[in-house]
Amino acid sequence: MLKNKLYIKTWGCQMNEYDSSKIADIMEKELNCIVTKSVKDANILILNTCSIREKAQEKLFHQLGRWKNFKKDNPNIIIGVGGCVASQEGKNILNRAYYVDIIFGPQTIHKLPMMINNVRKFKKYLIDISFPNIEKFKYFPFTKTKCFSAFVTIIEGCNKYCTYCIVPYTRGKEISRPYQDIILEIKNLSTQGVKEINLLGQNVNAYQYKNDKGQIFNFTDLLIMISKIKDIKRIKFTTSHPKNFDNQLINVYKKIPQLVNFLHLPVQSGSDKILSLMKRRYNIFEYTNIIHKIKNIRPNMQIGSDFIVGFPGETKKDFNETISLILDVDLDMSYSFIYSPRPGTPASKMKDNVDIKEKKERLHLLQYHINQQVKKFSYKMLNTIQTILVEGISPQNNKYFGKTENNRIVFFTSKNNYIGQFINVKIIDCYLYSLYAVFISIVKN
Ligand code: SAH
Ligand code: SF4
Ligand code: F3S
Repeated sequence: MLKNKLYIKTWGCQMNEYDSSKIADIMEKELNCIVTKSVKDANILILNTCSIREKAQEKLFHQLGRWKNFKKDNPNIIIGVGGCVASQEGKNILNRAYYVDIIFGPQTIHKLPMMINNVRKFKKYLIDISFPNIEKFKYFPFTKTKCFSAFVTIIEGCNKYCTYCIVPYTRGKEISRPYQDIILEIKNLSTQGVKEINLLGQNVNAYQYKNDKGQIFNFTDLLIMISKIKDIKRIKFTTSHPKNFDNQLINVYKKIPQLVNFLHLPVQSGSDKILSLMKRRYNIFEYTNIIHKIKNIRPNMQIGSDFIVGFPGETKKDFNETISLILDVDLDMSYSFIYSPRPGTPASKMKDNVDIKEKKERLHLLQYHINQQVKKFSYKMLNTIQTILVEGISPQNNKYFGKTENNRIVFFTSKNNYIGQFINVKIIDCYLYSLYAVFISIVKN
């Protein structure tokens, strides 16, 4: 049988990246598909889209416009659009891009091989953007990996409905994967050499799964189970929500040394007024309280966040409160965005009082402060010993590289190959996000 060649382009969050890797796995199993990095070689083109911020639609049609030409030359090419824009727009995509064959959502990626077969057979487009009850995971074959760090989705969707956010509408309601499946997937990855796991979800700490006996397992329970898998030495997760960051989860940091000393806990704004308009369900007192408690247990814990600037109603005073929070909480690496109205969300109907020039200035200032913080933490690491998981050789500078617990890339040269191992290095030079080091010792298990 002729090999199908699949090209996937992915935009958006790590959950989309995870979904794309699963698309590749299932297409290989079901359609004998190989993944190609060259779009010109492919006969199946998949775009996995994101609609979290502005211009998502424009970007999509721009990309599809380019792919249309490939289809002119070869009408047998199949074009599929998946992800959050597909989920949001559905059939409307065909109004501007009639040549698209398949539209599928984040919860229907497992149906893709079947949809492709049917499109080929019946020569008609197919759309499935439904939210079937988290069935997709059952269809994925075990992942084959050559990496030492891997992502595992544990929960899909979101029930929080922050007023600015499109995710609950595009990914559906929160559904947790059975813990048995998650453990099996991690054990399988660990037998292939994976030593670091990054648990994924829009809201990982909302994880809740009821087993056949009616017992309920939450995120803390899941972390404890994962910590017992022998070769998993580092556990990370993204993203957790302050509302669900309870004392049980905070206290588990005492028991699980594999949990890294870096926590990405998005606060979005330093103003209680804005947090309430965003419907984030916590205030600054509660947020800082979590941080204090966790730093009591882990004094070296570094915290990162996400920020939205220029939310409707944000005054200079509100914005200054955000800057103060960055300094008070002593935040490390954080992501920041200008507020983007998303169609159908409550915030998109709020009066937007901040003009774009002001928004850009606020973003610029906020990023300046974050960069100063990042620099401060990186410089503190100079001349210290850090543990890194060596991931490979960088094509840019031909040096070995690995990551620290707080997500800094560390480069070093060595006569020996330590790829896949945890090693101790001494930091000898530092830049904003990357560090240079010399080898000290191998970390003993
Ligand atoms: N579930 C996570 C975040 C998911 S989206 C959480 O609640 O923290 C990733 C980030 O995108 C958000 O933290 C937010 O900072 C940003 N974001 C989401 N919607 C946005 C919008 N409409 N405009 C600008 N930024 C947005
Ligand atoms: Fe969006 Fe809020 Fe859910 Fe995060 S918690 S995905 S920001 S609705
Ligand atoms: Fe984007 Fe959907 Fe992820 S909107 S950020 S791809 S959940």
